[in-house]
This record gives sequence, C-alpha cells and structure tokens, in this order.
Amino acid sequence: MTNSYGIYGSPPRELVQIPVDATQFSALMPGSASLEEQAPESLDQIIIHAPPGTIERRYTFALAVKALKSGGSLITLAGKDKGGSRLSKELESLGFAVQEEARSHFRICEAKKDTPNLDTVKEMIAEGSPSFVEAMQLWSQPGVFSWNRLDPGSTLLLQHLPELSGFGADLGCGVGYLAKAVLQSKKIRKIAMYDIDRRAIEMAKKNMNLERVTLHWSDLRRENQLPNNLDFVITNPPFHDEGEEDKSLGQGFLKTAAKMLKRGGVCWVTANKHLPYEEVMRPIFEQVRVVTEKNGFKIFEAIK
Ligand SMILES: C[S@@+](CC[C@H](N)C(=O)[O-])C[C@H]1O[C@@H](n2cnc3c(N)ncnc32)[C@H](O)[C@@H]1O
Repeated sequence: MTNSYGIYGSPPRELVQIPVDATQFSALMPGSASLEEQAPESLDQIIIHAPPGTIERRYTFALAVKALKSGGSLITLAGKDKGGSRLSKELESLGFAVQEEARSHFRICEAKKDTPNLDTVKEMIAEGSPSFVEAMQLWSQPGVFSWNRLDPGSTLLLQHLPELSGFGADLGCGVGYLAKAVLQSKKIRKIAMYDIDRRAIEMAKKNMNLERVTLHWSDLRRENQLPNNLDFVITNPPFHDEGEEDKSLGQGFLKTAAKMLKRGGVCWVTANKHLPYEEVMRPIFEQVRVVTEKNGFKIFEAIK
C-alpha cells in the first residue's frame, strides 16, 4: 500500500524534506485540498508550516490529528517569533509525545499520533471554526484578515464612497465587508470578488446575497482570467505576504485594477498612509485624488 503525505504551507526546504507527492492543504494556496474535508485516519504524515495566529494554528493541528492514521507522524515548524516557541506545548495538549529541535531561528517539532486527547481536539476545532461575529454582523473565521473586527481603513473607505454602478470588482475581498456594503446600490449589476484565502471566500459566500456576485479563490498575482472594461474596482490591498511586509503586493493590485477598468472607470482604494501607492497609480491612471487622510489611512479615487 502506498503512503499518503500532506503538507500545509511552504516551510523552508532546507529544514524539512517534503515528499514529492504530498497533498497541499494550505487555505492560502488556491486549488489546494482542504484539511477539513480530508478523510479521518487517512494520512501517514503531515508537515505543517505552522500559521502564526494561535487559534488558527491550534485548529490546524487539531484537524491534522483527525486526518492522521494512528502512528502517523506530524512534523511542524515555525520561526521562534512566529509561534515556534509554543508548538511543543500545543502538541502535547493534544496528546502527542513531542521531540523538539531549534535550527536557523526555527523550532521544529516531530510527534507521532498515539492516544489523542479528543476533548482538546474538539475544543480547538470549535474555537477555530467559522462563526457569526456580532460586532461585524458577518460570518468570519480565525486566520482570515482582521477576522473579528471591522478594518478601520475599510470603514473609512465606506464613509467616502459614492453610490457605485455597473460592473465592478473587489480585489482582496476578505469576508465581503466592502462588497456587501456597496451592493446596497441597486445600480450595481455585478461584482467579481477575489481573495487568495479559501476561508475568506467561503465566509463571503455566507455573507453575501449571491445574485449579483461571483466569488473567486484566486491569487491575483497569477490570475489570467480577469474581466476588463469594468466600471469600478474597490480594494483594500494587502501588504503582507507570508507574514512579511511586501509593498509590491498592494502595488500589483493597483496595476491589476487599472487593467480591469474601462477608460473613465474608477478605482477606490484604502491604504495605510505610509504605503507608496500614489507613485504607482499616477502613471497608470488619468487622475488620482486623495479623498481623505485620517487616523493613519488614506482614501484614493483613481480614474482611468
Ligand atoms: C487588507 S485585506 C482586505 C480585506 C477586505 N476587503 C476588508 O476590507 O476587510 C486584503 C485581502 O487580500 C487578500 N490577499 C492577499 N494576497 C492576495 C493575493 N495575492 N491575491 C488575492 N488576494 C490576496 C488577503 O487574504 C486579504 O483578505
């Protein structure tokens, strides 16, 4: 019988050996399998590049416990300052006997599934599962962007948006906070929503009336089936990739927005004011206007 391997995320290859035929389970890699749907007791091994968020990380470990065969092996690693120092305690609470080593600022833990602590597994899964967040009036899940509070930059954008109309897109839509609000305008025909995070797209599906919406689990850096000729784009662009600040990610979103718009189409952007977006927008849009600057955020209206 062949062995069945899983991998979650992209750990440094010099620190762990990843089987070539391992199934990828990361929610941040479009097209990956979902650990939630993996058959119980089906994996011989899983390697997890542990997510930095505590609830999300414990949820992932608990799902891995369910997916592993008895005697199956879990290898997990994280930077010391990205949750690495907590890995062994978290695994022990799930009933694993853990071997830990430190290498290149990482903590690496190896554990075999023996007698899992099923109450803790259940608790950790419940804690990390989707829930309706009253404070946001939206479905959300630990791990997605700003999972349990409305982003102040997006709130500021909504305070300045005019009534939008026609066909549009929301780039990096998260759980749908912006798109849901703008769809109050009956003049909008359709919004295409894009996010790299499967969980965000799944939550957006629960949050939106889907009549005028299409949802796309997609990495916008690689997406080559984008609509064009749009009337509007709304975006709160990301500026972190795998936990590190990456300004080019947000700048790429703005270039993509310009490509998707028709001449005269408008892009509404909210951003932390330190981000260098204006210099990227000026050459590719006909007009760029700073609509407001408040509490560390800037709102732009850019017309193609
Ligand atoms: C700043 S958040 C905004 C979320 C939501 N629009 C809001 O206002 O609450 C940026 C979003 O972009 C998504 N994202 C990051 N990199 C991406 C990529 N390469 N392609 C598509 N979406 C991406 C993140 O998952 C996140 O949900």
